[in-house]
Amino acid sequence: MDLLLKDKVVLITGGAKGIGAAIARGCAREGAIAVFIDKDAEAGKQLRTDLSNNGAKCSFIYADLVPPENCAASVEQTLGEFQRLDVLVNNVGINDNVGLEHGSPEKYVKSLQLNLLHYYNMAHYALPALKKTQGCIVNVASKVAMTGQGKTSGYTSAKGAILSLTRDWACELLPYGMRVNAIVPAEVMTPLYQWWLNTFPNPEEKLKHIVSKIPLGNRMTQPEEIAAMVLFLISPQASHITGQHVLVDGGYVHLDRALT
Ligand SMILES: NC(=O)c1ccc[n+]([C@@H]2O[C@H](COP(=O)([O-])OP(=O)(O)OC[C@H]3O[C@@H](n4cnc5c(N)ncnc54)[C@H](O)[C@@H]3O)[C@@H](O)[C@H]2O)c1
Repeated sequence: MDLLLKDKVVLITGGAKGIGAAIARGCAREGAIAVFIDKDAEAGKQLRTDLSNNGAKCSFIYADLVPPENCAASVEQTLGEFQRLDVLVNNVGINDNVGLEHGSPEKYVKSLQLNLLHYYNMAHYALPALKKTQGCIVNVASKVAMTGQGKTSGYTSAKGAILSLTRDWACELLPYGMRVNAIVPAEVMTPLYQWWLNTFPNPEEKLKHIVSKIPLGNRMTQPEEIAAMVLFLISPQASHITGQHVLVDGGYVHLDRALT
């Protein structure tokens, strides 16, 4: 299937590593122009070099998306360089373990800044350009929005809000013919996931236990498998799909627990 993404400008937050980088690579393979924003300068420059060396048009914006003005500036920079914007992929998030018992009101607000507020800010600043192209938005959420995880109130509530925003924006943007969907990963091996595993006393044991609970193949989801669904959702081939929460998780959230 031709995803019809050639020359579409796709703005990806947190695109230098992990799931975001897999989406950027997928865009490059489809002939789309990936613009990835990240606060990791080294990883961003490396990805830009890799993609450019393979003949892809792309751009890297070095920014921390917590300050709202950096969200606005990133959109402006993209428009300055490519004069259009077709897709926003909101992807930055970090499971930062701000819980109820051992958190604090200050840490909770900081967690929402890291995980939630820039999703709204990016969409807000990107909207005028997206309206012009009848563009679309994909929000990366997490299974924790549906299952909880414990000891991570900030991250969980951000991800729950992201699912709600997806539905609300899908409603609000109907008059412009714009689509908004969310992707819901569960267990994907990325630098973030490895960091989270390392917070346990025995990361290898923990990983073994987790994959034993993943019904399809008893294995982690690969970032490329998330990216494949994102590419489909942003494609004009998905022209009648909006407001959806799409789980790409090997059956982790919904299949019968007796199976594992
Ligand atoms: N890996 C998983 O198993 C998993 C599961 C569920 C949901 N998710 C979600 O998927 C998304 C991507 O996760 P990942 O595992 O690829 O993470 P990752 O940490 O491997 O990659 C995220 C990228 O975002 C960048 N980043 C972080 N904060 C930033 C900021 N404030 N400004 C700019 N850049 C910033 C990082 O530098 C990094 O390059 C997140 O929203 C995460 O919550 C991941």
